[in-house]
Amino acid sequence: MGVLEITADENVKIRVGDKLKGRVAFVTGGTRGIGEAICRSLASQGATIAAGYSGNDQKAEEFRERFTKTYSTPVSIHKGNVGNPEDCRGRVAEVIEKYGRLDILVNNAGITIDKTVLKMTDDDWYDVLNVNLSGAFFLSQAALRHMAERGSGRIVNVSSVIGETGNIGQANYAASKSGMFGLTKTLAREACLLLARSGKLNDPEGIGLTINTVTPGFIATEMVEHIPEKVMTQILSHIPLGRLGKPQEVARIVHFLSADASSYITGQVWGVNGGMDM
Ligand SMILES: NC(=O)c1ccc[n+]([C@@H]2O[C@H](COP(=O)([O-])OP(=O)(O)OC[C@H]3O[C@@H](n4cnc5c(N)ncnc54)[C@H](OP(=O)(O)O)[C@@H]3O)[C@@H](O)[C@H]2O)c1
Repeated sequence: MGVLEITADENVKIRVGDKLKGRVAFVTGGTRGIGEAICRSLASQGATIAAGYSGNDQKAEEFRERFTKTYSTPVSIHKGNVGNPEDCRGRVAEVIEKYGRLDILVNNAGITIDKTVLKMTDDDWYDVLNVNLSGAFFLSQAALRHMAERGSGRIVNVSSVIGETGNIGQANYAASKSGMFGLTKTLAREACLLLARSGKLNDPEGIGLTINTVTPGFIATEMVEHIPEKVMTQILSHIPLGRLGKPQEVARIVHFLSADASSYITGQVWGVNGGMDM
């Protein structure tokens, strides 16, 4: 425990420990970008990882290969569209069936289809809402049932600073991401109610059932690659820290909220945005 290791492909120092040993984490959109960094961070403390993705089999296989080179903890990949309620229920059931439990759900999968309001089509609106918000609801619903029965669990939703500020060309994305705040707070309250009813709230032996949200600012992943240079210069000028965030810097907060010791934090929104919202 407590060894420092340099990962071969990321050249990032990670602390290897066993605080999440025996825990099973399902990270949607876990094969790339922020999701991959979350998988790595949770695995660095021994969690078993189930990583979801939608269609890019090659990237998913590459993720599995990279991951198994660095971590000895079990990993599996799960294909499904989080915009489809049946896929959400099916993938959660698949993970529970495979590992016998689900301790941590990270609703990270998300998409953008950017257009100004006057140009946005019905499909542009519904597609983003379905994947980003309805997906988080249906996955959480399936996970909550299982977690409430067991009396413990963690759900972390990956929202966005855009859900707090809005953004030109992102009405669908901003609405989906701010929708996560209400979803998080309601899930958090209902989780407490479920545990109270089963006599498991504040079980001295337990770690509780918490639901929180993180709001990343602009993070260096494929999602922001298409932003034109001129627009990026303008974005950077609004970030007090003067740079994009790194996926690991978001993963760090997700990991913190997923930890057993974070049992008194629920229904909260955590910013990771270089000071953008000050
Ligand atoms: N990057 C940023 O600046 C930023 C800022 C704030 C918030 N966020 C949020 O952070 C999360 C991750 O962003 P990212 O930049 O890491 O994204 P990314 O690099 O584009 O990766 C997206 C991941 O989500 C999966 N995915 C996409 N649509 C899906 C669907 N319908 N069903 C299941 N999985 C799906 C992708 O699978 P495939 O590989 O199969 O396509 C991939 O694994 C998103 O929710 C995003 O809104 C990002």
